[in-house]
Amino acid sequence: MHTISEYRDEFIAYLDSMKITKEPRNLYEPITYILGLGGKRLRPVLVLMTAEIFNTDFRKALDAAVAVEIFHNFSLVHDDIMDDAPVRRGKTTVHEKWDINTGILSGDAMLIMAYQLFENYEPNVFRDLAKLFSKTALEVCEGQQYDVDFETRDDVMLPEYLKMIEYKTAVLVAAALKMGAIVAGAPDEAQQQMYNFGLNLGIAFQLQDDYLDVFGDPKTFGKQVGGDIIENKKTYLYLKALNSESEVIAKELEHLYSIHPKEAEAKINAVRSIFEKTKADQATKTAIADYTAKAFDVLDDMDINPENKELLRQFGENLMNRTV
Ligand code: IPE
Ligand code: IPE
Ligand code: MG
Ligand code: MG
Ligand code: MG
Repeated sequence: MHTISEYRDEFIAYLDSMKITKEPRNLYEPITYILGLGGKRLRPVLVLMTAEIFNTDFRKALDAAVAVEIFHNFSLVHDDIMDDAPVRRGKTTVHEKWDINTGILSGDAMLIMAYQLFENYEPNVFRDLAKLFSKTALEVCEGQQYDVDFETRDDVMLPEYLKMIEYKTAVLVAAALKMGAIVAGAPDEAQQQMYNFGLNLGIAFQLQDDYLDVFGDPKTFGKQVGGDIIENKKTYLYLKALNSESEVIAKELEHLYSIHPKEAEAKINAVRSIFEKTKADQATKTAIADYTAKAFDVLDDMDINPENKELLRQFGENLMNRTV
């Protein structure tokens, strides 16, 4: 086994060795741009780690790891269009740097490139990877549609929100872990356990993403702080705050989430202070810890060696304490 940062370095070296930019440049340059902006590289690291946990050289999993990361970046390019986001990883988003049409088409090309990488695997592995990937990608689309639908709904319930984040975010984290297990030819049950571990971790991860969107440090967060508030995203924070005992606060929050002011600063500050006053911030922190603990319960039941469990646990702990 290697350390998390070694897997990341190996992944980046492999990604860099693929020369993506060619003609027409306006199609491929944005792809090189977004992939080059970095990010945490969580999903590819999970693919590589899982392959080795099941006794397979991580190099065999590199193409699957790149596929997951390219798919993830594709979803971000389209997500930033849908969320009208100006900044990603501290830099201008693709659709702002180029234009929306470029974001759409470069994103489409990335989705196809991701699939193409599975062609490097033998037929059985190819089939299992492609099957998992297709199911996952459709679920991500469904989650993204719910996310957008919820912006204009005022009756979103907590279970719906949880399903939405499971689909838009958690299934890809889960799939990354399962893909490593598929490449390694791990038994079905082990594949499923890895998936379940990732699903709970992924839910905790999106809850944390929602938390950071409001309370993150603008200097290091890399995205526009308050972006979810501007877009009236029905997050865990919002749904918890709306359940506040105070009718007045709930009404105020509902009002704030029905407007689209040109200058968003006052709205963001007002909503943030409601999230604090109602302790929705604390409730979100608790939910993050709960889903991470659920993931660790799944991990405890796994039949893998203790050192590897520790590595995955470490990974989960790091996610919970992240600031980016
Ligand atoms: C951002 O994912 C989108 C979500 C699913 C929350 P990451 O936080 O993994 O983004 P990068 O790749 O590290 O920038
Ligand atoms: C992203 O959710 C989920 C996908 C990209 C599929 P967000 O919209 O919260 O992600 P960020 O915050 O823009 O990274
Ligand atoms: Mg977004
Ligand atoms: Mg979004
Ligand atoms: Mg977000």
